[in-house]
Amino acid sequence: MKEIQRFTLADLTLPMKTLFSGYLMVIGLGLLFAGAQIMMTHGMADGKVGLSVDDIIYSYHGNREGGSKLVSKLNGSMKDNAPPEVRLAMIKWAESGASQEEWDEKISMDVDQYCAPCHANMPGIPNITDKPVMDEMIKLDEGQSPSTLTRVSHIHLFGISFIFFFVGWIFTYATGISQMKKAIISSVPFLFLIVDVLSWWLTKWNPNFAWLVIIGGFGYSLSAAIMIFTALYQMWILPRRKAHPVDPPMQ
Ligand code: HEC
Repeated sequence: MKEIQRFTLADLTLPMKTLFSGYLMVIGLGLLFAGAQIMMTHGMADGKVGLSVDDIIYSYHGNREGGSKLVSKLNGSMKDNAPPEVRLAMIKWAESGASQEEWDEKISMDVDQYCAPCHANMPGIPNITDKPVMDEMIKLDEGQSPSTLTRVSHIHLFGISFIFFFVGWIFTYATGISQMKKAIISSVPFLFLIVDVLSWWLTKWNPNFAWLVIIGGFGYSLSAAIMIFTALYQMWILPRRKAHPVDPPMQ
């Protein structure tokens, strides 16, 4: 299958080159910021700097083995705020299903006595003497909720596919790359995009899928980098090489 390519990046008019280049550079910058944002939000999820499989698991699957916030705080920074028997009673209550009866009979009194001095008075920390607020503290960390994932998934699919549509379109005007390679490089990001979004849901369900999130994200960043750099090179550097003294000067 041989086709004549009428339109190449090197021969574009100046305004088309500046238009394409402006778009590609802003998209490239956007991808860098997206990467930085992922490092800053998900990257710290496991408490350590740098993105790891654990971060992905904590973000999407949650830390279900780590127990509720109440229990982890009572074993951590809140440890000294109540005598051991009170702490243990609260932990047992939370881990045995946090019944309303026990809350009414005992736990709420303990909370009033030991926790309320700060938690009912200091602004900025949750008022756990209030049962609905306490309910939030005893929920297990299950990662992203389905409603958040649904919202983020559709925004991500629509938004990113626009990026790859135009980047890929510009890239199809490159020269010196076989049609088959161009077809693969420009369409593979869409596949990775689906892998990426699907892997969020799979990781929410089973943490073993966390590595797919990394592969998906890495895959389309790599193909975007190839397309952006190839296109910029062919628009601005290649024509100068062609115009080297052995060739007749360009008009
Ligand atoms: C001396 C004041 C003080 C007392 C007493 C106190 N807390 Fe706290 N608590 C804080 C502060 C300050 C924070 C926020 C910093 C942190 O998370 O360590 C906090 C955070 C928490 C959190 C996490 C809230 C969140 O949304 O991150 C929980 C749960 C908690 N405390 C439970 C308790 C319980 C249960 C008690 C009673 C046994 C208690 N605290 C007693 C000051 C106190």
